[in-house]
Amino acid sequence: VCMAKLIIVSNRLPFSVHEAEDGSFAIRQNVGGLATAIGPYHAAHRNCVWVGWSGDDPERYSDEQVESIRAAYESKRCTALFLSAEQIAGFYSGFSNDTLWPLFHDFSHEAVFDAKTWEKYQEVNRLFAEAVAPVAQPGDTVWIQDYHLMLLPGLLRERCPGVSIGWFLHVPFPSPEIFRSLPWSREILNGVLGADLLGFHTVDFVNNFKACVKTLLGLDSGDDGRIALEDGRAATVDAFPIGIDYNLYRRTSHSSLAKAMRRGIEEVSGKRPGLRYNTSLSAEGSAAQEASSRSGSWWSHHADEEMPELNLARSAAAVDRAKPNKIVVSVDRLDYTKGIPERLRAFGRLLERYPEWTGHVTYYLLATPSRESVETYQRLKAQVDQLVGEINGRYSLLAWTPIHYITRSLPIKPVCGIYAAGDVALVTPLRDGMNLVAKEYLACHDDRDGALVLSDMCGAARELTEAFIVNPYDIDKTCEALHDALEIDATEARRRNRAMQARLKARTAGTWCAGFLDALHQVADPSLADR
Ligand code: G6P
Repeated sequence: VCMAKLIIVSNRLPFSVHEAEDGSFAIRQNVGGLATAIGPYHAAHRNCVWVGWSGDDPERYSDEQVESIRAAYESKRCTALFLSAEQIAGFYSGFSNDTLWPLFHDFSHEAVFDAKTWEKYQEVNRLFAEAVAPVAQPGDTVWIQDYHLMLLPGLLRERCPGVSIGWFLHVPFPSPEIFRSLPWSREILNGVLGADLLGFHTVDFVNNFKACVKTLLGLDSGDDGRIALEDGRAATVDAFPIGIDYNLYRRTSHSSLAKAMRRGIEEVSGKRPGLRYNTSLSAEGSAAQEASSRSGSWWSHHADEEMPELNLARSAAAVDRAKPNKIVVSVDRLDYTKGIPERLRAFGRLLERYPEWTGHVTYYLLATPSRESVETYQRLKAQVDQLVGEINGRYSLLAWTPIHYITRSLPIKPVCGIYAAGDVALVTPLRDGMNLVAKEYLACHDDRDGALVLSDMCGAARELTEAFIVNPYDIDKTCEALHDALEIDATEARRRNRAMQARLKARTAGTWCAGFLDALHQVADPSLADR
């Protein structure tokens, strides 16, 4: 029996390959939002294949190696496409990430309009169509992901009769005032309207899309989201807020590696006795501190004489020995839409305005480098490096560094350890489709307190209404929200978290996948409906 297939198509596959020392290729799960959201669905359904870019420049490999990479992906039911260096530059770094990404995130001043990268975008979308069309049979479903592949629905529509086509956008969709500055806005809209169902994270993005379709193509959409098209077909638009695999994050935060990571962070930040002076007032803590001073750290004997203000035990004690130590965390790709500089300024302001936090609050900033070939990202990296340096330089004590800055990609277990260690998570994007970090943090605080400071500018703010919601551009208010979050009473924190966690448990990544696919089958060709 030939079972109908589901073909997922995205720019990045849910796995990447790594060359082992013996020259073989090992395959590893990616940790990005898209991969963790749809990955388990793909893994659980044998009739589901995934088509995407290998993520590598094939010119680095021999033909034989390319074949091994291809085979490694095939073993995971993934079809890898290989793009040339020129295609990567024009399609990925260029049009996708230097034009559509800034434009869709309301950073139109950063958007580059270049006919050459537009040419490559079309070329690579056609290449994806070449790969998908021969395998998509009548009765199959193709689910296309994100802004990289907005022409693909239209290209497949022409070539694949009887196939249901869905498309989901993982980033915001801008208002017509912004979108229409794109010289190829109509081509993009017509391309994406090749899908039967178009999904967005929020009702706001749906409304922006409808407004663009009206302004630029003159087409009306009904209240049910149906847009009647000129060729007699209809496309439907709707909101499907993405969830997370709640149990995966909850479970992983209890893994031994995550726990060890959490303990380590708590020691370094003086929350539990260990590597540095414990400045908490618990009898045990003070005793440990006394013992540690007596046993003779360099600074307790010598630095005190010359520069007592740099000594943690002295300075913190001078302010407030009773204050418990706290940990702030954030986890992002190093991306200018994430509001990292603004957030650092808010943290710096906290230390300036509330000197009692000196020695008592440690910020773990995990910022994974991303899209490093794009200049905007290089500028951001330099800016964040500098800000972290300035704040640490100004406020550090001998045994306390306010910001621990990590610019590497970490696997899920240590990331969950960081989440679990955070008394406060600072999630303050300037613009974001959903933001899964906010949700992942809450899942890692399942049975505990912990407070979330959340930007109003992301989809997650529509659902996580018990968080400390801030305008990320407002440094003063973000500083105040951070202060309040650090001071929140544990019972109140737990009350808020429980309300948000109940929602996250009910609407997971799995229910999101199923919900989108059900809706797609309802609106696609009715003759295909009951599958
Ligand atoms: C965002 C996009 C994804 C993308 C991810 C990582 O979440 O919506 O499509 O995969 O960023 O970016 P990268 O450029 O590394 O794929």
